[in-house]
Amino acid sequence: MSSSQYDAAYRRSLQDPEGFWGDAAEAIHWTRRWTRVLDDSRKPLYRWFVGGELNTCYNALDRHVEQGRGDQAALIYDSPVTGTLRSFTYREFRDLTARFAGALVQQGVRKGDRVVIYMPMVPEALIAMLACARIGAIHSVVFGGFAPKELATRINDAKPKLIVSASCGVEGKRVIPYKPLLDEAIQMAASKPEHCIIVQRPQAAAALMPGRDLDWEAAMKAATPVDCVPLAATDPLYILYTSGTTGIPKGVVRDHGGHAVAMQWTMKNIYDVQAGDVYWAASDIGWVVGHSYIVYAPLLAGCTTILYEGKPVGTPDAGAFWRVIAQHKVNVLFTAPTAFRAIKREDPEGKHIGRYDLGSLRALFLAGERCDPDTLVWAQQRLGVPVIDHWWQTETAWGIAANCMGLGMLPVKPGSPTKASPGYDVRILDEAGDVVPPGKTGNIVVKLPLPPGCLPTLWENDAGYVDSYLSRYPGYYLTGDAGYQDEDGYLYIMSRIDDIINVAGHRLSTGGMEEVLAAHPDVAECSVIGVADGLKGEVPVGLVVLKAGVRRPEAEIVSELVKMVRDKIGAVASFKKAVVVGRLPKTRSGKILRGTMKRIADGAEYKVPATIDDPAILGEIRESLGRIGYARE
Ligand code: COA
Ligand code: AMP
Repeated sequence: MSSSQYDAAYRRSLQDPEGFWGDAAEAIHWTRRWTRVLDDSRKPLYRWFVGGELNTCYNALDRHVEQGRGDQAALIYDSPVTGTLRSFTYREFRDLTARFAGALVQQGVRKGDRVVIYMPMVPEALIAMLACARIGAIHSVVFGGFAPKELATRINDAKPKLIVSASCGVEGKRVIPYKPLLDEAIQMAASKPEHCIIVQRPQAAAALMPGRDLDWEAAMKAATPVDCVPLAATDPLYILYTSGTTGIPKGVVRDHGGHAVAMQWTMKNIYDVQAGDVYWAASDIGWVVGHSYIVYAPLLAGCTTILYEGKPVGTPDAGAFWRVIAQHKVNVLFTAPTAFRAIKREDPEGKHIGRYDLGSLRALFLAGERCDPDTLVWAQQRLGVPVIDHWWQTETAWGIAANCMGLGMLPVKPGSPTKASPGYDVRILDEAGDVVPPGKTGNIVVKLPLPPGCLPTLWENDAGYVDSYLSRYPGYYLTGDAGYQDEDGYLYIMSRIDDIINVAGHRLSTGGMEEVLAAHPDVAECSVIGVADGLKGEVPVGLVVLKAGVRRPEAEIVSELVKMVRDKIGAVASFKKAVVVGRLPKTRSGKILRGTMKRIADGAEYKVPATIDDPAILGEIRESLGRIGYARE
């Protein structure tokens, strides 16, 4: 099973990374050529395209206008939840971005300053991101579903000079005012922005704080458009916070040069799209998929990108995705398997598909969580196009493993995201650091250096980067995923080795939720596990031990816990269930046996761990989880 094109590209990318990525970099416009493709003088930290200068915004917008794509749609904003449809040409989008960049400059934002963007799925969010890139400010987009405390944590780490936000988000039929959440976060945060620029949406008006807050329209009116500034390839383009193993998120840094090269390369080689194609990533700009494939990659490649403010179901029905594909002649769709599970649940026969002409669609790409074979096969049969699962992380910005359509597609094996992408030397290691044989599960690592686009470090935290990712196996990047490789080199990504769970394609830390539960006055001890869910893949479930003498009704305590997680982390955590238990199962050294509890909850087979303190507890856990609908045989 091989494609000679893929094999050749893969081999060269590992044997001659400088030649491989140096060639790929020719597709980007540089204001100064790099002096070294790969700088390995500070191992284990590596930098790509050292000495080179470019501007990501120029490459994403201006150069397409200069090369004759000015009248092509850069962005189609399709918002069924507000009844809005708007298309922006590359020229219009460049002009709006240049003007907003001017507004940022007018508010004192300079190269290297951070700008937090807390926005719903509106065009202004993309304009703000690209405007930062235009002037060398570093954006940090925070997903709108996070609560004020999570936003405050990110504000404290990034220390933004300015925050861009909107008066509200629209979730299905609900209008969610964002401004009160923003105000609360700023009040909580030790680091205060000098200014906020607020997009006033007609669904809810936000009260502006005189002196601090500015209205987007007014700021735009008062601004003078500014040009792109040359930036070092190694300058940071953005910080994106992602769940780590504690409640403190990690600030993944993305650079300008390596990122632009990788993004452009993937469009042709992984997705097989070219300038003029219509590309739709049905994700959110708050996630890495949104950063890479709603914003940067499609625009760098001269495609039309779709910004969809809606859900796969309910806005208005399970045919919403097909309507968008047909209406905008989408060539490639990228989303998370959970979206397809949601559609499949409402329309198992795929009847809505027949109502639309999906002739433009060439492929469906899925990522964000393990794709169950049922969902993949369902999509393949109903859509009649290749369905490609690919595996990646916030840290990498693009697929670590994929079926590279542009390099000659390999046969699809449901359950596998296919083989390592060019640039990634993926190995599966055992605890001792030895490569395991095919079929055997181990820790998935990538031999350093990581390819361009992957994180060079964490924000102002080289030591944390090394500690979290590079210290477990020296010379290798620890992905945090466990899995195996088959005889043909196909990868299977099975689980995390840490406490991260994946809820509807969103990455969340159970440790972070445990911190919240532990703060409840009646809770003595707690544990949060990710339990299998037919729609969201996994959902968090809390198990709490109450303090001695607490006699309040369980339902009352549980509803307080649910509210606390919603208030402290956000609705996105989907924390809806918890149960009171007498005690938690532990090893003799006191480690909570989360993995065993998860298997019990899922109704999977489990071994009683040899190190367990008291095996009788497992029966109690099964009984407790049974009360809330889990632990079915
Ligand atoms: N602002 C405010 N709240 C938000 C939000 C936002 N930007 N995004 C989600 N939420 C809220 C939701 O309204 C929901 O609240 P609820 O508990 O009161 O109903 C909660 O956070 C959980 O959201 P979500 O996980 O999206 O669940 P859902 O039930 O609303 O929708 C799916 C389920 C499967 C339809 C949806 O998750 C989906 O479309 N996912 C696929 C695409 C995707 O985004 N993938 C990301 C990585 S590629
Ligand atoms: P995030 O950083 O939010 O994109 O989450 C990354 C994590 O999601 C990975 O480390 C995996 O655990 C999981 N993941 C993403 N894509 C896949 C996939 N295609 N198959 C299995 N797991 C995936």
